[in-house]
Amino acid sequence: MKTIRASIIGFGAVGQGVANVILQKSDYLQKVGIDLRVVAIADSRTSVIDGEGVDLSVVLASKKEKKAVGTGKISGIDIIRTVAHELVIETTPTNIVDGGVGLVNMLAAFERGMDVVTSNKGPLALKYGELTEASKRSGSRFKFEATVGGAMPVINLACDTLAGNRILSMEGIFNGTCNYILTRMMEEQAPYEQMLAEAQELGIAEADPSYDVEGIDTASKLVIVANVIFGMNATYRDVTVTGITRITPEALLLAHNNGYAIKLIGEVNDGRINVAPKLVPLGNPLAVGGTLNVFSVQTDISGPITITGRGAGSIETASAILSDIISLYKE
Ligand SMILES: NC(=O)c1ccc[n+]([C@@H]2O[C@H](COP(=O)([O-])OP(=O)(O)OC[C@H]3O[C@@H](n4cnc5c(N)ncnc54)[C@H](OP(=O)(O)O)[C@@H]3O)[C@@H](O)[C@H]2O)c1
Repeated sequence: MKTIRASIIGFGAVGQGVANVILQKSDYLQKVGIDLRVVAIADSRTSVIDGEGVDLSVVLASKKEKKAVGTGKISGIDIIRTVAHELVIETTPTNIVDGGVGLVNMLAAFERGMDVVTSNKGPLALKYGELTEASKRSGSRFKFEATVGGAMPVINLACDTLAGNRILSMEGIFNGTCNYILTRMMEEQAPYEQMLAEAQELGIAEADPSYDVEGIDTASKLVIVANVIFGMNATYRDVTVTGITRITPEALLLAHNNGYAIKLIGEVNDGRINVAPKLVPLGNPLAVGGTLNVFSVQTDISGPITITGRGAGSIETASAILSDIISLYKE
């Protein structure tokens, strides 16, 4: 049995999801030879540290009731720099301008030779090369399945499961908020603004939805996929992006009457990375509705492979983090 000491830096929806799945899957973790102890947790203002392992149920209850993980004041970055542990689970907010606190945290972890598992796509969409170099230099391992498709195993599918295949191209829907809005606009023949408001009421869209509806979120995920799967050295700025804000219910109906749906499709093809609304034949595996995401690759020996699933959510995203942790440490 291997004892792995971990920190969770960022304790919002995903960080709490990680704590919940670690509790829920503790027997399974033991079965695959991993004694996972979370020795430190930080949110933006507070922290809790215990070298023997913090009580995750207590921290979850504290975050719920008091909006704080504990009473400690040691910041996330100082935990990474000073607390003895092997693994940093980085789940702070995404920053697509300069990588934000997530980039600083990841580089600090690599400097100490620690492994990083993250759901934070901003740093990877901007500085993939720098991060992978830094991790290699220090012998750290770096896993980020959760940055791309929530519960969908995008990176593992392309890099591990389909090993030996050459991936010729890929396309998919990587943003559940946009997919929900487009699906509902068609169903209700209602304008964009009305269905955005509905999505916000249901908690599917953020108060500031621009990151999703302008295609920025999809573009960030595509850059990660392009770099990992196609060995490109792209950044977010290399993506051509059009969002969904100008789509009308009339356009959706016209498309539907001709046998098509309009979907926000991200694709990597011939070295180009593109995000734009596209016509998808009804009945095509890409024509999934509601908040679902879908990922499809063309391969040289397996032909087309498509997977669909939930692209976001606390537990769904935590499941991708858990699978990365297990793949790093299982015996
Ligand atoms: N939610 C999803 O479904 C989903 C899916 C895939 C990927 N992701 C990505 O996963 C990451 C986390 O998402 P989320 O939904 O959990 O976000 P969230 O609910 O906003 O949580 C972010 C957490 O980070 C904390 N934080 C902010 N600045 C910090 C700092 N300097 N040091 C330590 N902690 C800090 C926040 O503290 P407070 O609690 O004090 O505010 C909060 O606990 C993001 O990068 C997001 O893009 C999310």
